[in-house]
Amino acid sequence: MAVITSIADLRDLARKRVPRAIFDYADRGSYDEITLRRNRADLEALELRQRVMIDLSKLSLATTVLGEPWSFPVAIAPTGLTGLFHRNGEIHGARAAQRVGVPFTLSTMSICSIEDVAGAVTKPFWFQLYLMKDRSFNEELIARAVAARCSALMLTLDLTVMGVRRRDAKNGLSIPPRLTLRNALDIAIKPAWAMGVLFGKRRTFGNLVARMPDTGGLLTLSQWIATQFDPSITWADLEWVRARWPGKLIVKGVLDAEDARLAAEHGVDALVVSNHGGRQLDSAPSTISVLPEVVEAVEGRCEVLFDGGVQSGQDVLKALALGAHGCLIGKAFLYALAAGGESGVVQALEILRKELEVSMALSGCTDARKIDASILRGTRWK
Ligand code: GLV
Repeated sequence: MAVITSIADLRDLARKRVPRAIFDYADRGSYDEITLRRNRADLEALELRQRVMIDLSKLSLATTVLGEPWSFPVAIAPTGLTGLFHRNGEIHGARAAQRVGVPFTLSTMSICSIEDVAGAVTKPFWFQLYLMKDRSFNEELIARAVAARCSALMLTLDLTVMGVRRRDAKNGLSIPPRLTLRNALDIAIKPAWAMGVLFGKRRTFGNLVARMPDTGGLLTLSQWIATQFDPSITWADLEWVRARWPGKLIVKGVLDAEDARLAAEHGVDALVVSNHGGRQLDSAPSTISVLPEVVEAVEGRCEVLFDGGVQSGQDVLKALALGAHGCLIGKAFLYALAAGGESGVVQALEILRKELEVSMALSGCTDARKIDASILRGTRWK
């Protein structure tokens, strides 16, 4: 058995366990992947100040976001097709998050349905929503999230049209996955995945099948999105969601100070600074580079979450330093899920937690809620 010491180790293992098309769906970005690389490069470029002789006997990683206690400032991002990385992947992810004491976000484009996940956990999870042309479908999804006692709704704003992920097209990614001449060898050397997912019960979009029987057929994600998602949405549609959703409202995909101000003016409870993990607008800035201006623009009117390239506890620390209240993990979550199901995800969260704890200690921080830009070296971020 390989010794797992990092998210990178889980990524290596994931590559060995799931077919290439599934792995690449998580791993890769859109177009030339400039933004995908920027997310990582800009996080890596930040320097932490090493501090000594500070009393570290009481170190606290716990935080509160949207009134909910988190054991440390990391949550699981909504990711499409999660249940294709591991049988019942969304259930495994939600259970792992519950065990560790952090939020899990279920995607509209999940394989397990809202009800499947609700039946498997006792703590409330979050539900992510896309607005579709057929608003009665959104109405129904929101009602299902209410019935499942989801505690927050996360509306994604940056995928009204889909950025081209060249790898997905070349790999012939389809939902449900199918065995073809081209992928037969790849699948033959991943028998556990084939048994669990390819021949398993849940292989298509669990939230959508009842309403749209067509989704049981062979589809590419981009085809489905192009026909169903509403490209005409504006801030007025946020009111439409507000009127139907009684709980906390988060918007995801804000990458500009002006949009951050508008989101705050429209009364969201939180926003996620996100470029969809480098999967949408290529050549957009990295999320870490815009985080300070977003934090400044919202002036404390809503909470600020962060995603995009988070692969270590040091990355989490840097985002907290620049004003994020918590970080979401998408790719790191899917690697861990593919590598080891629920226990893989628990392991990933524990790795991030431990890395954050040690890095806080070595940079002289004792309380995750009080981290600020003074822990970063240089004046660029002040
Ligand atoms: C869906 O949100 C995706 O990025 O594929």
